[in-house]
Amino acid sequence: MKKVLILSASPRKSGNSDILCHQFMEGALESDNQVELISLYDKKIGFCRACYACFKTGKCVLHDDMQEILEKMQSADILVIATPTYFLTMNGMLKTTIDRFLPKWQELGGHGVYLIITGHDNKKGLELVGEELEKIFRHLGNEIKGIIWGEGVWKKGEVKNTKAMDEAYLMGANV
Ligand SMILES: Cc1cc2nc3c(=O)[nH]c(=O)nc-3n(C[C@H](O)[C@H](O)[C@H](O)COP(=O)(O)O)c2cc1C
Repeated sequence: MKKVLILSASPRKSGNSDILCHQFMEGALESDNQVELISLYDKKIGFCRACYACFKTGKCVLHDDMQEILEKMQSADILVIATPTYFLTMNGMLKTTIDRFLPKWQELGGHGVYLIITGHDNKKGLELVGEELEKIFRHLGNEIKGIIWGEGVWKKGEVKNTKAMDEAYLMGANV
């Protein structure tokens, strides 16, 4: 049994990233893992102020939901990070969250990480997002275990007709 934490960055409920997160979750639950899915838009997460107070105190000066998310990340075995592609890169919600890793950035390693990336473009157009997230999470000391490419999907729900559905379920089932 592994503890799986899914962080979903899309603002669209039941959108393509959300649907793939649920597929992954179903697969992981089916093989008796413990799963929590957090929609980052439901949380209060402010921008990093670059005050570096956390370097002295280990804590952020902002009192919002980020501390709880960092604690959950630390206690998870597996992290799943899902984002739609916005202007060729990860969306702002995810980047804002990643910047807030700063107080614990040296304690966020040792996880298996899966990435879920969606966008209307084909895989080539989404590759930058994969590259940057791979680099960031490896830099933190994690292993990238798989990437689910939700390519060629624009409207809400379009991903349901693609092979990414099975891939997400199977990767979830094999965490
Ligand atoms: C602000 C914005 C920028 C976007 N930029 C891109 C892009 O550069 N490349 C791409 O393939 N799709 C782009 N899209 C399309 C979304 O990535 C696509 O609709 C995706 O399926 C949304 O995922 P969601 O349903 O989980 O929100 C953009 C969408 C928005 C709202």
